[in-house]
Amino acid sequence: MIYIKNLSEHVDKEVTLKGWVYNYRSSGSLVFIEMRDGSGLTQCVVAKDDVSEYVWEAATSLRQESSLEVTGTVKADDRSIGGHEIHVSNIVIHQVAEDYPITPKDHGVEFLANNRHLWLRSQRQWAAMRVRNEIIFAIHTFFQGRGFVQMDSPIFTGNAAEGSTTLFETDYFEEKAYLAQTGQLYGEAMAMAHGLIYTFGPTFRAEKSKTRRHLTEFWMIEPEMAYYDLEMNMDLAEDMIKAIVSRVLENCKDELETLERDINSLEKIADKAFERMTYTEAVDILTSDETANMLDEMAESRRQEKLDLGKEEEEIKKEQGSAKKWRKAQIDQRIKEIQTRVDQIDEDLRNIPSWKESARNFEWGNDFGGSDETVLMMQFDVPLIVTHWPAEIKAFYMKRDETDKLALGMDILAPEGYGEIIGGSQREDDLKVLEERIAEEELDKEVFEWYLDLRRYGSVPHSGYGLGLERTVAWICGLSHVRETIPFPRMMGRLKP
Ligand code: 4AD
Ligand code: MG
Repeated sequence: MIYIKNLSEHVDKEVTLKGWVYNYRSSGSLVFIEMRDGSGLTQCVVAKDDVSEYVWEAATSLRQESSLEVTGTVKADDRSIGGHEIHVSNIVIHQVAEDYPITPKDHGVEFLANNRHLWLRSQRQWAAMRVRNEIIFAIHTFFQGRGFVQMDSPIFTGNAAEGSTTLFETDYFEEKAYLAQTGQLYGEAMAMAHGLIYTFGPTFRAEKSKTRRHLTEFWMIEPEMAYYDLEMNMDLAEDMIKAIVSRVLENCKDELETLERDINSLEKIADKAFERMTYTEAVDILTSDETANMLDEMAESRRQEKLDLGKEEEEIKKEQGSAKKWRKAQIDQRIKEIQTRVDQIDEDLRNIPSWKESARNFEWGNDFGGSDETVLMMQFDVPLIVTHWPAEIKAFYMKRDETDKLALGMDILAPEGYGEIIGGSQREDDLKVLEERIAEEELDKEVFEWYLDLRRYGSVPHSGYGLGLERTVAWICGLSHVRETIPFPRMMGRLKP
């Protein structure tokens, strides 16, 4: 098999490609087939004069997403997608597709989500999945390169680790079982056997919130390290994120371009140190006059931008009536861009007052909401690691500092409004203290006996964290919603397809 992504090895040679019609158009005695084969896109040109009547017939009977084999000569052509063009000599059709529901025109997101099984074939979705794949590979490469062992934690579990409010309950031969919210507790057991481990698996949370950051089924990568303290935990997470971003920048240039991702902001990640501060310092920033002023200035500059765009739109609309065809198309395109940007501005302008209010009145002891994270991250262009959280809002297993009020937790927030991508901590390693926590939180001690054993038999300081794969993909791809970061997203109100 020869794949489109390898066409540069076959220039001026004849190849046969097997795939689907992504798009096509004809003009007189030429048919242009934009063909995809899973590995990429290329343009195939059929000239009536160069092919048999039978092949010409086939070429003119094609429809979007028909499956076919194309034989032809590979020509290098910089202007063509992927840098090549196929001069077709033969076509074998496998199936002429019925009317394909996803056409090049704009569709609503609900319609696309209902057709997710087909939407996956679209260029942007294709590119996002490629980046997801690269991120997965980068994560394995990073951990394997550092001597970590990948181990799997169970999905059916008997206990809650991250609070009981987001559990999916199921019947396990007449016993109650829950789908795992995290593999962490098992990860700790495995780290005591192997030192350095990571899990990589699906996790489940009955999140009742419909936000662009929440799925009910998502994939989490959870390293757990014996003899690591909070500082070492942070260093590892920072190195891992840098390794992921570098690798994607290196291997997914085309995909990022398809996604229209601004690469500059990613390139900063690779060589700049991440910001680190305590929760208390983060709260100080959030409630400061500087933050309030920044939001006022932002609103003002958005209003100005909207005025300017309005003027520009008026101007080019005047020109449109008498413009030449190519210029008309240009104007249409620009008007579309302006409208998209104005929609964004309007949304920002609606949000800013409540963001400001929420940041201003933030009280020490609360957890950051999505908007607080967004406002905080407006001030940084690299990820921010927030440590030393109020113990009350963090899980029972986190070790506390000497004041006993702060948990040695760390959250990592991504820049550009993507919010928390990592949650982690140093773990409580003292049996007595952990028993107290379990009692305080009124957890069923019996189901945690095995976990307490880890503190009875050779307890050591240890730490770990969980990286949310979909939020990481959203951030690196610059996607506004996690629903486009996983092949078949599961969210509240979405179980099919
Ligand atoms: O912060 P969380 O809840 O941490 C844990 O579960 C720890 N047990 C991890 C550990 O220390 N081993 O979740 C970790 C990450 C979050 O930072 C976020 O990226 C992602 O998992 N996440 C979600 N992603 C998509 N949809 C959801 N509903 C998510 N909930 C958490
Ligand atoms: Mg968290």
